[in-house]
Amino acid sequence: MKQKLIYICQNCGFESPRWIGKCPQCNEWNTFIEDVTVTKKPSTATKIGASNITTLADISTDAEYRINTGITEFDRVLGGGIIPGSLVLVGGDPGIGKSTLMLQLCSNIPQAQPLYITGEESLQQIKYRSMRLPKMDTSLQLLAETNVELIDAAIKSNNTSVVIIDSIQSVLSDRIDATPGSITQVRECAMLLMQTAKKTGKAVFIIGHVTKDGSIAGPKILEHLVDTVIQFEGEKQYSYRILRCLKNRFGSTNEIGVFEMSDSGLNEVLNPSEVFLSGRNEDESGVAIVGTMEGARPILLEVQALVTPSNYGTPQRSANGYDMRRLQMILAVLEKRIGLHFGTNDVFVNIAGGVYLNDSSCDLGIAAALVSSLRDVPLDTKTVFIGEIGLTGEVRSVSALEARINEAAKLGFDRCIVPAAGINKVIKNPNITIKPIEKISSAIVDLF
Ligand code: TYD
Ligand code: MG
Repeated sequence: MKQKLIYICQNCGFESPRWIGKCPQCNEWNTFIEDVTVTKKPSTATKIGASNITTLADISTDAEYRINTGITEFDRVLGGGIIPGSLVLVGGDPGIGKSTLMLQLCSNIPQAQPLYITGEESLQQIKYRSMRLPKMDTSLQLLAETNVELIDAAIKSNNTSVVIIDSIQSVLSDRIDATPGSITQVRECAMLLMQTAKKTGKAVFIIGHVTKDGSIAGPKILEHLVDTVIQFEGEKQYSYRILRCLKNRFGSTNEIGVFEMSDSGLNEVLNPSEVFLSGRNEDESGVAIVGTMEGARPILLEVQALVTPSNYGTPQRSANGYDMRRLQMILAVLEKRIGLHFGTNDVFVNIAGGVYLNDSSCDLGIAAALVSSLRDVPLDTKTVFIGEIGLTGEVRSVSALEARINEAAKLGFDRCIVPAAGINKVIKNPNITIKPIEKISSAIVDLF
């Protein structure tokens, strides 16, 4: 087949016959790299007859069938189990635990006779990893192969219903002359695997590494192509891992699963709040508990603030696991509406447990922690803060207030400070005191 040189944007996949410095599609600089393309042969497709076109009503479906993996956290993220014939991309930083997760998944579904195809590690390495894992099913089928055409043939001839490809960056098609991991290769291989999944009705999981800026290498094209994208996240220095659904053709993308990496593989964390709150220092100033949502699940987290006199001319503002602009807005509201001065202080905010909080309903908790640190007065350790702060200092209502309150009650907290606006429908929980507030100023007066 004839091949021609092209240039592809590593960020968005835009193709150009010449090298260009700035991508006209995504406006990124220096993202073009040389690649090859296969010149397409004339299509042999013939006419579409009337019989090819159908109506919705005529399409028969079996009742939706899913393979239950027995790993609750994993099933939840997929929307209730593995759909036969689906192509799922599992992304994540190198070393985060993708191979471990997939190996444990395989071991859990012997009835699906999974086939684990490795292009990255030797069979011995997989064996060593499996020896660390509890209850490993030793009849798991393994194949060490990188040629996608051979992989394709193996999938078709095997009696498996779940296939794992570890990883998409290591497989290649010898029909094209590009290096493994390049956009052309990744796209070509993924497309072939997609067709195989659809034709055979076998579910295919492809593991994909994530580049430094957080996108899945080989990039958006792959995300468009597959049915489901799940991402395995976490900070290396912490043992928690969050499995997050970024795209799902068969379910909601709101769900997350929480795992903990141990010496013997990944364990499910069925009650994340308990884990995130363990080991906290009570009776210290600058600490507040917030009720946040991860997908459809309420999770309680500890936020920490440290306000200290600044030694330099320009006071520092630093946020770890929280949006810097949001922090600056809260500081501005506290200055303007309550008259608290942070101007000569350094301000640090940290979310405990290595979680990134992207939820404006934590504003109230952050504000309380900031004031607590500024005044050096600890907050009540049995209180949970829920509420978004607006620019006029009003405390705004948040979604799923009842679920958050119930989570706080379940974990033994006594009091929830919540937006008054959210209490229009009466939320009752006999185990916890609910204190509605309207203005951040009244909350601060009540607390200190
Ligand atoms: P791995 O699954 O190889 O990551 P990935 O496929 O995403 O690159 O997991 C790598 C890390 O997990 C490695 O640093 C070792 C650690 N690990 C454990 O802590 N406990 C275990 O039981 C296993 C198997 C791995
Ligand atoms: Mg791996």
